[in-house]
Order: sequence, then structure tokens, then C-alpha cells
Amino acid sequence: MSVPLELFPDTTRVTLANTLAVGGCDLVDLAARFGTPLYVYDAATVLARAGAYREALRASYPGRATVCYAGKAYLAPWLLSLLAPEGLGLDVVSAGELLVAGRAGFPRERIYFHGNNKGEDELNTAIEAGIGRIVVDNLDEIALLGRVASRGARQQVLLRLGPGVEVRTHAHLTTGAPDTKFGLDIQSGAAEVGVRAILAQPSLELRGFHAHIGSQITDIKPYRESIERVFAFAAAMREKTGFTMTEMSPGGGYPVRYSPTDPKVDPLAMVREVAAAIVAAAKKHAFDLPEITIEPGRSIIASAGVAVYRVGSVKKASRIYVAVDGGMADNIRPTAYDARYTAALASRVEDGGQTDVAIAGKYCETGDILIQKVTLPLPRVGDLIAVPVSGAYQLAMASNYNMAARPAVVVVADADATLVHARETFEDLVARA
Ligand code: LLP
Repeated sequence: MSVPLELFPDTTRVTLANTLAVGGCDLVDLAARFGTPLYVYDAATVLARAGAYREALRASYPGRATVCYAGKAYLAPWLLSLLAPEGLGLDVVSAGELLVAGRAGFPRERIYFHGNNKGEDELNTAIEAGIGRIVVDNLDEIALLGRVASRGARQQVLLRLGPGVEVRTHAHLTTGAPDTKFGLDIQSGAAEVGVRAILAQPSLELRGFHAHIGSQITDIKPYRESIERVFAFAAAMREKTGFTMTEMSPGGGYPVRYSPTDPKVDPLAMVREVAAAIVAAAKKHAFDLPEITIEPGRSIIASAGVAVYRVGSVKKASRIYVAVDGGMADNIRPTAYDARYTAALASRVEDGGQTDVAIAGKYCETGDILIQKVTLPLPRVGDLIAVPVSGAYQLAMASNYNMAARPAVVVVADADATLVHARETFEDLVARA
């Protein structure tokens, strides 16, 4: 297998020294300078993905439209400072994420607050920050927010709907199926009760509806179905309550390829189809084109990130286990979702030989295998393993399992590397123990 460069950040190159470089920075040098495990983000790739989404949406949707980056995938001030000037909005799901956005000076009117159990303190934080929209999830939240918001200006809200659409993805990654903890279900009448409850709150202004159906969705059909159900519901509400939807969001969930065997699906083509489905549904149900937001998280940030590990042992057993100095504490995805990754030998990209190996993490669990099988030049102790498509839901879900220090993070651009997050120290860990 040759190096799957197409999965790495756009600026990735094999150097004359047979090593891997990203953003003009040799990963061998970065590992020596900042230690491992190291997460390397390529600024050019982030900007390219963000710009491509914005342009795809602009070209395919004639109404007002914003790409809202789903910050849960990975959130940091450096990233928000890149995305804000690109015109993107931001989805947050906690007061913590909101505070990071505030610290980065992200435009508050472009922030959407999601979540199925926002606390009173979190709603207060959101109202004080004056953010654009709160996406309400349930009747208790409507009552609570109605109370909290009455202390300030009227809060604009969207209602999260359960469209009852099944998608083909990992079971943990579906959110719009008939059985879900998210939103109010259309079918059972719960969503209608929700609409009436919002309309009855003087401090809330209902603007429209939101439905996110899941992640890593490769098929356009469930998006179309969900959009049609949202519009049919909105039309019924217009008829029954006089409320007219002026905003809607079909969520995020556009797919990313993690390994060369993953199907080649163009997420931008899906965005164009989603936009067309909204235009068609608006026409069918006699709505003016609503203002829309789409919410990609993973597909903006995943391919911009590379995880770099150092090999500590190579064990020949029933298969060859290459043990690295990270694992499930910095990347829980193989364990949690059976996620399949690939890797390259960053310190010796090609040496003629190719061997099937398993990349094992260092944590004390049998399930801590980062990659079950990848074909590489046989790694040696001290070599560097680079795992592409590591930018989303890895650091964001990283833990201190086994009292591991969370990794350092650097951003590379134009042959320059900036440390944006220092590796946790043992003092940090001991202070929290
Ligand atoms: N909008 C809403 C309301 C969401 O809940 C999510 C993700 C997104 C947008 C962004 O979805 P994306 O475009 O990133 O697929 N930890 C899991 C993924 C959980 C996604 C949760 N919601 C993983 O590592 O695969």
C-alpha cells in the first residue's frame, strides 16, 4: 500500500528525506520539538474546507444561508479565529463551548445553542451573551427558557424536531430515528405541543425548525425525507396555529473518508442536493425560501488534523502489534464506534518492504487498538506513526484515562508551527487527582 496522501491534509508531502511533512513542517521535526502524541492541524486545509462549504451553499441556495461549524467536533480559539472571517456560524452545545466562542470573539449573532438538557445556568449564560438562536429540545426547556428569557430581550428560537427518519450509519450516530433522545417527535404530536408551548411564551420568538438526523451519512435520501417532513409539519402548523416558518436547518452529518476503503462520497455534492431539496419543499408547501443553516462539524475539521505517535515496541505475536504512545485516551473512536483508520510511517514513508501490522494503544485495555490492520514498512522502535483524518471528535473526546496527559496541539501554515495547546503536565494531572 502506498501512502494514502489524499486522506492527509492538502499540504502533505513526502520529503526528500523520506519523511512526511504537513504545511511545510516535517513531522519528524515537530515530534522532536513538541513531543508525542502530537496533534497537527493544517490551517490551509481548514480554510479550504470552510470556503468550499460556503461556496457550495451560496451557489446552490438562492435564499439566505450560513454554514454553522459544529464546534463539538473540535473547538479552540485559533480555529474560531480562522472560521469567523470566512463568514461561518457556530453551533455550541454547552456553556463551556459558548465561553470559548466568547473568548475568541466569535460573532454572537451567528451562534446557535443546541443540546437536549441545557441547564438554567447555561441558558442564562447564552442569554447574557446575546447569542443568535437557541435550538430548544423539549417542553421542560421551553418552560425554563421562557422564564429565564423574560428577564431580558425576546429570545429567538428554533424547535428541534424528531423527523422519524432512519439512516444507515453506526447506531450511536443516528439522531433523527423514531426512537431518539433528541427533539420533539413530529409523528406522535409532541412537536405540535412544543410549537404551541413556544408560541404561548411571550419571551420567546419561534423562527422555525431544526432536524439533525445523524453523522457519517452517505446517502441523500434520508436528508430529503427529513426535509420533506419538516416542511409538511411547518405547513400543518401554519394552518393550525398561524405560525409561519422563516428559518430551518437540516443539520450536519456529511461524511468523511477515514481509510482508502471507505466509499468516495462528495459531501459538497450532498450539500447541493440538500439545498435543492429545501428549495423544492418550500415551493411544494408554499413557503418563501427560509433562511437556512447547515451544520457540518467533522467534514470541516477531520481531514485537517493528523495524530502523530512514537513507536515504543514491536511485538510479533499472532499478528504484529506496533505499540504507540497514545491510544484510546486521545482517540476513543475505534473503541466507541468501531471506527477504522489508516496510517503512514511518517519517519520512513517508503522503504520497499510492506507488512500488515496492528497499531496498539498504550492503555490498559484489550479494546485499545487504534488500527486493527494497516500495511506499512515494518515499523521499528522510535519510528513515527501518522494517523490522518484525526481532526474531529478525537481531542474533543480525549480523556485522562490511566492518568494520561492530553496531547500537545500545533497548527502548521507556511512552514511555520505554532503551539496552540501545550501538552498537559503531570502537575496538571496531580492537581486534579
Ligand atoms: N448538528 C448537530 C445538532 C449535531 O448533534 C451534530 C453532531 C452535528 C451537527 C455535526 O455532525 P457532523 O457533521 O460532525 O457529523 N462523536 C461521534 C460523533 C457525534 C456527533 C454528534 N452530533 C464520532 O466521533 O463519530
